[in-house]
Order: sequence, then C-alpha cells, then structure tokens
Amino acid sequence: MEKYIVTGGSRLHGKVTISGAKNAAVAILPATVLARDVCVLENIPNISDVTALLNILRALGARVRLLDKTTVEIDTTHLTEPVVPHELAKPLRASYYFLGALLGRCGRADVSLPGGCNFGGVRPIDQHIKGFRALGAEVSVNYGMVHMTSEALVGEHIYFDVVSVGATMNVMLAAVKARGVTILENAAKEPHIVDLANFLNSMGADIRGAGTDVIKIHGVDVLHGTEYSIIPDQIEAGTYMVAAAATGGDVLVENVIPKHLESIIDKLRRAGATVEEFDDAVRVSRTGRLQHVNVKTMPHPGFPTDMQPQMTTMLCCAEGTSIVSEGVWDNRFKYVDELRKMGANIQVDGKVAVVEGVERLTGAPVKALDLRAGAAMLIAGLMADGITEVEEIHHIERGYSSLVDKLRSLGADIRKVSYDDDPLREAL
Ligand code: EPU
Repeated sequence: MEKYIVTGGSRLHGKVTISGAKNAAVAILPATVLARDVCVLENIPNISDVTALLNILRALGARVRLLDKTTVEIDTTHLTEPVVPHELAKPLRASYYFLGALLGRCGRADVSLPGGCNFGGVRPIDQHIKGFRALGAEVSVNYGMVHMTSEALVGEHIYFDVVSVGATMNVMLAAVKARGVTILENAAKEPHIVDLANFLNSMGADIRGAGTDVIKIHGVDVLHGTEYSIIPDQIEAGTYMVAAAATGGDVLVENVIPKHLESIIDKLRRAGATVEEFDDAVRVSRTGRLQHVNVKTMPHPGFPTDMQPQMTTMLCCAEGTSIVSEGVWDNRFKYVDELRKMGANIQVDGKVAVVEGVERLTGAPVKALDLRAGAAMLIAGLMADGITEVEEIHHIERGYSSLVDKLRSLGADIRKVSYDDDPLREAL
C-alpha cells in the first residue's frame, strides 16, 4: 500500500509534457483485435489502466511487445476464446470495449461487467446493449457476465437516448464490421471519439462524422494492421493547468491540442489566470487572487466532468462564491467531504456544489476516492499550508503517467511512500 505525501506552498513553475490520452488509449487498445494483424501504437500513456488492458489482450492470445516507453506492438493474428473474465475486467471501466471489439472480430463476446470509478450509483450500459441488439446481436447478462452472439451484424439506424462516450465508442467498434450502413445519432463528440474513429479508419474502416452528433459507418469485411499515434490527454493537461493556476504558478503545458482545452481555458481566465495559447502548448500563470466562477459540466464541447473535482478544488480558495453544477454524473461530489477536512467551505445539494472561497486550506490525511477526485486531492495538497497525505493512490495511478516525477519537475514537494516505510505508522 502506498500514499503520496505533499507539502503545500510551492508555486508550480516550468514545463510539463502531456502523455497520450487515457480515454482514447483504453478504446484503441481493445480495437486492435478487429484486425488479424499487427498494430503499432505510439504515445501510449504509462498508466495502470493500460497495463490492465494489455494483460487482457495477452490473455486473449495477442502478442504484445513494448518497443519503447510509449510505443507498443500488438499482434492479434491468433486469438483464443473471446472471453474476458471478471478478474481481468474488474480493475477498469474500459474493459467493456472488448464487447464491441470481440463481437466485431468473432461474432461472439463474453465479457465481465466492468469496474472503474464509482460515482456512488450504478453506471448503466443499457445504451451499449441497445446498440449491439440493433446491429443484430443477442445479448444476455448472467452473474455479472455479458454474453453476446451474432450470426451476422447488420448496419442499423441507432438513436442513443443519452449522450454516452462509452456507448458511442463500443457500438462503433462492432459497427465497423457490420454489413451495410450504421448511423449513430445523438453520439458523443469527445476528442477520444474522433481519435478512435481516426484509428479505425487507418485500419481500413469507413467512419464519417466523428466529432459531430451523427456518425455514419459503412461496414467493411476486413481491417488491417496500422501504426497510429494517440492524441494528448485533455484531462491530464487540464489538471496541470488548474494546478498551475491554483498554486499561483507559471507552467508551460506542452504536447496538447489547445482546441480541446477551450472550455477549461475560458474558466481559468475568468478565475483570474493568464492563459497563452501556442500551436501545441498552453502557458498558465497567475499572480492576483483567484476569483469565483460558476461551472457546469456537460458532454463535449462543454466543460468536462472529468475536470470538475480539480476545478472545484481550485475554487475553494477563490474570492467569493462559486457554483459548480454536475451535468453528466448523478453523484460526483463525494470527494467534497475530503476537502472539508482541509478547511474547504462547500455545501452540496444533489448535483450542485456551492463553494464559499476561504483564505487557505490546511493539510490533512485524505483519500483519493476515485481517479479525478484523487487528482483534486493533490491540487488541494499543493495549495494547502502544511502536509497532506493522500491515500488510495491506486485510483490516481489508473490515469496519470509519471505523476510524481512531473510534479516534482515543476517544483512540487511530493513523494510517494509505502505504508511499510512510513515512520508514523511504525510508531503506532
Ligand atoms: N449512461 C446511461 N446509459 C449508458 C451509458 C451511460 O444512462 O448505457 C449515462 C451515465 O450514467 C452518465 C452519462 O450517460 O450519466 C454519461 O456516461 P458515459 O457513457 O458518457 O460515460 P463512460 O463512457 O462510462 C467516459 C469516461 C469517463 C467520463 C465520461 C463522461 C472512459 C473510460 N471513461 O465514461 O471518464 O467521466 O465518459 O465524459 O472513457 C475518467 O477518466 O476519470 C472518467 C471517469
């Protein structure tokens, strides 16, 4: 068991390079099974979600070779049974992308219901199942396993009842191999949807309209191997941008697509930060006091829900009252109790948090309740007076590459310790 120990007060300064996008990589890795061939993926983030997916690929019979720290070669010529058991699927949400990918490849998939961040309620997959059924698959769920079979997938006009990143990507994965044309309406528009479509097109798929709410897919019989570089991570970039503004720092965030960061840039500017945009970098700095802003999370191009905990945390020390409304998940404010331990003044009513700015936070032992809530605890620790200990950091390591090294290179006082090395624990 490990935890992060953060001593607050340092203003982050310097340069940080953003890694490949988690939420693109976690769909593209399963997508490699659609070709009986070799794919080379560059700009793969070094995170535990990727490790978990590579383990699933190996268990399915793929040959996986790391060519360097961020490049992986995956040979899916020979696969065994299209089955992903609970032990392999449970660490992460994205294991469910093997449903669409294996259905497209084998006409059959048995995949355990996924794990991943728990936002306090059920994370349904009804829209995924609706899409698979529309393409002609028979779907049943027994004892936590989703079983799907199909004689032949056939393109269909599918209207999603809610805008879902996962359902859009999963159904796209199966539809690329369906006979005829599939039209996905009310599709999600996140940058990772476009990246998955670009990857599939580079394998020979015919997908148009990704990034809009109508995606048209002409099914093809065969997909081939490809070489592809994954886009930079919008949320990792946003997290460092908010950390820079929150600590009154000055950070050049490199290897980003500024267009993906517009909603975050807008809120940071309104909160009193200066943001300069370059071709593939943004520089965030702040000298004056943080100002209150209201934030509502929405599907892309709205403000991303995966930046909500980090932004709420920054606003804890802004002048005035900020209102943060969560428009995607029903229960994504559980981490607020952890911030209160550090002196934050936040009232939550359902999907709305009212943040009264305080002068300062103070360090405390807190938990990373999920991936982005964990990132928020680190930002709180960097802003706070004194020492913050963040436990349950496995959540954070699911999604942030080389986090400690990157933060230390920006001047943060952070270290990772094993509970066994912890002198306080020994004294207990
Ligand atoms: N929903 C349904 N039915 C479905 C699917 C979703 O009702 O079949 C609802 C959900 O309950 C939620 C909303 O639709 O209220 C949006 O869910 P979505 O399917 O878009 O989320 P997801 O695909 O499960 C991905 C990211 C999340 C991110 C959301 C929203 C991955 C692996 N996960 O989840 O990322 O919060 O999109 O942008 O791509 C994270 O990276 O920290 C993370 C949690």
